[in-house]
Amino acid sequence: MKKNLRKWLGLGVATLMAFSVVGCGSGAATTNSGAASDHTAEANTAKDGAKKIGVAMPTKDLQRWVQDGENMEKELEAAGYEVDLQYANNDIATQVSQIENMIASNCDILVIASIDGKSLGTALSGAKDAGIPVIAYDRLIMETDAVSYYATFDNELVGTLQGEYIENALDLKNVAGPFNIELFTGSSDDNNCNFFFGGAMKVLQPYIDEGKLVVKSGSTTLAECATPSWSTEEAQKRMENIISAYYSDGTKLDAVLSSNDSVANGITNALVASYNGDFPILTGQDCDITSVKNILAGKQSMSIFKDTRTLASQVVKMVTAIVNGEEVPVNDTTTYDNGTGIIPSYLCEPVFADANNYKELLVDSGYYTEDQLQ
Ligand code: BGC
Repeated sequence: MKKNLRKWLGLGVATLMAFSVVGCGSGAATTNSGAASDHTAEANTAKDGAKKIGVAMPTKDLQRWVQDGENMEKELEAAGYEVDLQYANNDIATQVSQIENMIASNCDILVIASIDGKSLGTALSGAKDAGIPVIAYDRLIMETDAVSYYATFDNELVGTLQGEYIENALDLKNVAGPFNIELFTGSSDDNNCNFFFGGAMKVLQPYIDEGKLVVKSGSTTLAECATPSWSTEEAQKRMENIISAYYSDGTKLDAVLSSNDSVANGITNALVASYNGDFPILTGQDCDITSVKNILAGKQSMSIFKDTRTLASQVVKMVTAIVNGEEVPVNDTTTYDNGTGIIPSYLCEPVFADANNYKELLVDSGYYTEDQLQ
């Protein structure tokens, strides 16, 4: 059995209950350890002495993280928890210090969407020492055995859906081509990119190999296609360079793979500014409002809808299971190895959104109002 599974799922309920009590790092461990169930009941009902959950988010620059934070805060508070929600302005040192403060201020559980998956090891060894369980949120935290669980969307499926969208839109199974495509992914310090890019390339690479898809820039590896910090400006710069080098003479660009919407927005800006042909097929992820508007305006083809309400609810379920000493709900125990072993994960299901289904997915579900998308 894998290390983390053994660590968490193999423990007896009583041990976990005791663990959850010790987790707050206060004197509660000695006073409450004999009355774990009372303590547990208290955790979901009372504000005074309620369990405190530290939620560390990367940045407010991207709409999705703002929504994630708001959803987490709302749902955790509704379940009776005290919440310490922090945003780190995409600055690693800020995130490290926020996490250290959460540990010092006796948070009981940490939920962390990391900026750089490999930079939290030292801070989280403090959490481990204090017996504070850590849930990696959306992005896996790498190379530390302090991570207990991972909650995310099926990241490989995100990439597969993007690749398949391009495959279908260009009818690659039936048409000879060749078609020109350029490839963009996100920040190489984000473990998710391995899955986003990997999932998409599993679909696209065979067509590149047979010459049906042509990458004029020649950039086909994750390192070559990465966009530092998922920056819109960086993506715009790279797309502008590619257009001026390969597509300014009237050569048609048929498709652009983009792993998310912030990158897609940079690509769209570059296309608007300096490409003379029709908009190519362009993928994205997150269904940010700017991208949904671009989809409706014909400037982006699709985005992946990851309903952050679902992810937040799932994390609240995990938190409550840890607090109650119950088995924590996971649905994947094979995919996500953070370098210290497999991290038991819950993968929510992503779906693609385009001009045909956005209304049902995004408006009818109450995610956005029609007004927000005008
Ligand atoms: C998330 C995406 C997001 C990207 C940039 C990834 O880790 O899974 O939803 O677009 O980071 O913030």
